Amino acid sequence: MTAVPDIAAVDLSDDASFRDGFPHGFFTWLRRNDPVHWHEPTAVTPDGEGFWVVSRYDDIMEVLRTPEIFSSNTGGARQGGGTTLKDERAAGKILNYSDDPHHRVLRGLVNKGFTTQAVGALEAELRRRANLLIDAFPVGQAFDFVSHFSRELPLQAICIVLGVPQEDRLRLCELIDQGLEADSPNVLAKEYFVQIMDYARGIIADKRHNPRDDILSKIVHARLDEEDGRALTDEELINFFVLLFPAGAETTRSAIGGGLRALIEHPEQLAMLRDDPGLVKSAGEEFVRWMTPSIYKRRTVTEDTTLAGTALQRGDKVSVWEMSANRDEAVFEDPFRFDITRRPNRHIGFGFGAHVCLGAGLARLEIKIAIEELLRRIAHFELAGPARWVPNNRLLGLRDLQLTVTMKEQAS
Ligand code: HEM
Repeated sequence: MTAVPDIAAVDLSDDASFRDGFPHGFFTWLRRNDPVHWHEPTAVTPDGEGFWVVSRYDDIMEVLRTPEIFSSNTGGARQGGGTTLKDERAAGKILNYSDDPHHRVLRGLVNKGFTTQAVGALEAELRRRANLLIDAFPVGQAFDFVSHFSRELPLQAICIVLGVPQEDRLRLCELIDQGLEADSPNVLAKEYFVQIMDYARGIIADKRHNPRDDILSKIVHARLDEEDGRALTDEELINFFVLLFPAGAETTRSAIGGGLRALIEHPEQLAMLRDDPGLVKSAGEEFVRWMTPSIYKRRTVTEDTTLAGTALQRGDKVSVWEMSANRDEAVFEDPFRFDITRRPNRHIGFGFGAHVCLGAGLARLEIKIAIEELLRRIAHFELAGPARWVPNNRLLGLRDLQLTVTMKEQAS
C-alpha cells in the first residue's frame, strides 16, 4: 500500500478530476516518487476496488508488450475485465477487450479496411470534404472549431469507412458525446449506449441484405475461419460497430483541435510549419503526443508478478497512463515543450503492442489533411476563448474551441 505524502492525491477514477484537463502535476510527482502507485478505493472507484497506476514510459511499455501477464480480457477469478477501470462483461468478446489468439482473428476481419492502401484511397475525398468544411467557416466572427471542423472530418471519414449514411452522423455523434459527458466511473451512460446499439442493429441488418464496398459489409459477411468457420453473431457485430464508430469519431477530433490550439499558442512553431511543409508529418506526431486523446488503458494481472520492483497479484487491475508516458522526462527532452520538430518522437499516443491503434493510419491522414488545408487556406488564426474539456478520465475530449480566422483570399 503506498501513500502520497507531499502532494494532494488525485482520485483518478473520478471524472471530475479531469474537468480542467489532465492532472499533470500529480503524474509528474508519481513518475518521480511512486511509479507503480496503489490507488486506494474511493467513493467512486469502479467495482469498489483499488488499482495500480503505472506512470513511467518504460514500465508502461513492459505492461503493453506482455499481454500474457497483463491481459486485455480478464484474470484471476474475475468474471468481467476489459481495458477500462470498470469490469465489463463483454470482456473476451470485443476486439480491444480480447487477448490473442481470439484477438488476432477478430483484428484480421477489420485489418483490410485500415491498410495503408485502403486509407490512402480516401485521401482525395477527405481533402475535398476538408475544403467544404473550411468554405463554411463564419469568417469575421468567433466560431467553434470543434463542431465546424475537428469533429466533422473524422466523423465523415468513419462514416465512409464503415458505410454509415452521412446524414446519420450528427445523431450518432450527439449520442456518443452525451454518453461521454454523462459517463461516470461506475455506470456507463446506458441510455445513450442502448440507442447506439439499436442503430447498430439496424445498419447491420441492412448490410446483411444490401452489402456494399465498406468495412461493415465485409465484417457482416466474414467468417471466423481460424476458429470454426462461423459468421459473427449479431452481438459480436454490434460490438464491432460500437467500438469502431466512436473510436473513429472521438479521438482524432481532440488531436486536430488541441494540436491547432497548441500551434496558435506557439506562433513561432506555426510560422516554422508554414515555411517548411516538410514538417507536417512530425507536427502530426507532436499533435498526438501533446494531446494523447486516449488517456489510459487498464489490464488485468493473470499471474503473480513484479513490475519495477513492486509485487502485483493475480487478478489485480493495472492502469497504464499513456498521457504520463508521453510526458516522461526520461524519454522526451523537455516533455512539456510543444515542438513540431521533435525527433525522435517515440510517443505511445496510439498505444503499443498487440492492441496498437488499428486506425492510426487513418488518424494520421486526417491530421495531415487538416494541417495542410487549414494552413493553405487560412492566413491568420486567433483564439477567441479558453478551451473547454469534457470531464472524462478515459478520453481527453475537447468540447469546444472558439476561434476567429482570416482567410488567405481575404487577407490578400
Ligand atoms: C488520434 C486519434 C487516435 C488515438 C489517439 C487512438 C488511440 C488508440 C489507443 C491508445 C489504442 C490502444 C488500445 C489498447 O491498448 O487497449 C487504440 C486502439 C484502437 N483504435 Fe485508436 N486511436 C485513434 C484513432 C482511431 C481511429 C480513427 C480508429 C478507426 C476506427 C481507431 C480504432 C481503434 C481500434 C479498433 C482499436 C483497438 C485495436 C485492438 O484492440 O487490436 N482509432 N487506439
